[in-house]
Amino acid sequence: RMPPLAACYNLMDFEAVARQVMKKTAWAYYSSGADDELTMRENHAAFHKIWFRPRVLVDVEHVDLTTTMLGTKCSIPFYVTATALGKLGHPEGEVVLTKAAKEHNVIQMIPTLASCSFDEIVDAKQGDQVQWLQLYVNKDREITRKIIEHAEKRGCKGLFITVDAPQLGRREKDMRSKFSDAGSDVQSGDGSVDRSQGAARAISSFIDPGLSWKDIPWFLSITKMPIILKGVQCVEDVLRAVEAGVHGVVLSNHGGRQLETARSGIEVLAEVMPALRERGWDKRIEVFVDGGVRRATDIIKALCLGAKGVGIGRPFLFAMSSYGLDGVNRAMQLLKDEMEMNMRLIGAQRVEDLNPSLLDIKALLGG
Ligand code: FNR
Repeated sequence: RMPPLAACYNLMDFEAVARQVMKKTAWAYYSSGADDELTMRENHAAFHKIWFRPRVLVDVEHVDLTTTMLGTKCSIPFYVTATALGKLGHPEGEVVLTKAAKEHNVIQMIPTLASCSFDEIVDAKQGDQVQWLQLYVNKDREITRKIIEHAEKRGCKGLFITVDAPQLGRREKDMRSKFSDAGSDVQSGDGSVDRSQGAARAISSFIDPGLSWKDIPWFLSITKMPIILKGVQCVEDVLRAVEAGVHGVVLSNHGGRQLETARSGIEVLAEVMPALRERGWDKRIEVFVDGGVRRATDIIKALCLGAKGVGIGRPFLFAMSSYGLDGVNRAMQLLKDEMEMNMRLIGAQRVEDLNPSLLDIKALLGG
């Protein structure tokens, strides 16, 4: 039986409900990670190696969660990251996330492989709502150019180029579920769909494994949207991204769905920020993190380490699949409530007050 929405008190609760009520193929696609799912689990577990050093006697009567990401003001420092195939979980697909993002004044990143068309998702936005585009780069660069130009024309405020997926990882749960009819409305780039390998592999054959640093100037030359590399995983590549002139990076391992035993984004962040600060480069790019963010304490930890914001994926898919729009709205509200309380308890009035001195990361660095 379906528990009432009010019985979901945190983001993990939505996952437990989704596991019970979702169609098996959809659950397999959303919940799976690569291989033994070590990285997927580590993404969340890594936050548990960071402890707080709260400050007391700070006036926290009024707490302000608002922040700015890539020039857009938002109500809380998380965004809805790109996750493909929204209609596997809910008949209306990604537009459900669009509506919740509007309600809570957070940014939505639109996936290349959305179930709804790009225009449907843009049409669903209201007022001055802001969306970003996640881009899988097609081997045919003219197709990619058209996608980018169209996104800019339709008002997208950021281009997130996924760089951690020259080939899709092996998500064995998903492969076993033998993706069949559920995603049949999804078009692959060249029209050919091999359904024997699970949903992910079936739709990703158009992605260009030849994409390299040499391509970055071309992207910068064809759009005014800020360009962010999604899926950067070490300090060397962050420094290279700065030199390449991009506007941001997402430290991410794709929710543990790509390279198995890749490090968590939060661990990479702890390596990256000191190196950027040392060079005085920390203001030259915006650094985002995703993977395993389930609690406001996770968001706060990422911000203390220097992230501009965090992406959240699966929890909103599970909330959407279980309870539709009401579910996603509640999930976002729970995060806001948690964050307001935890800002008070840590002794921080505003997002700008979050800094490394509020953390003890010995356990994270020590292994
Ligand atoms: C993703 N992710 C992803 N990333 C991307 O760049 N393009 C994509 O099409 C997808 N699709 C996708 C589908 C599903 C079902 C999941 C769970 C994830 C990765 C996503 O943007 C993000 O990196 C992770 O989801 C973050 O981890 P959490 O919050 O899901 O733990």
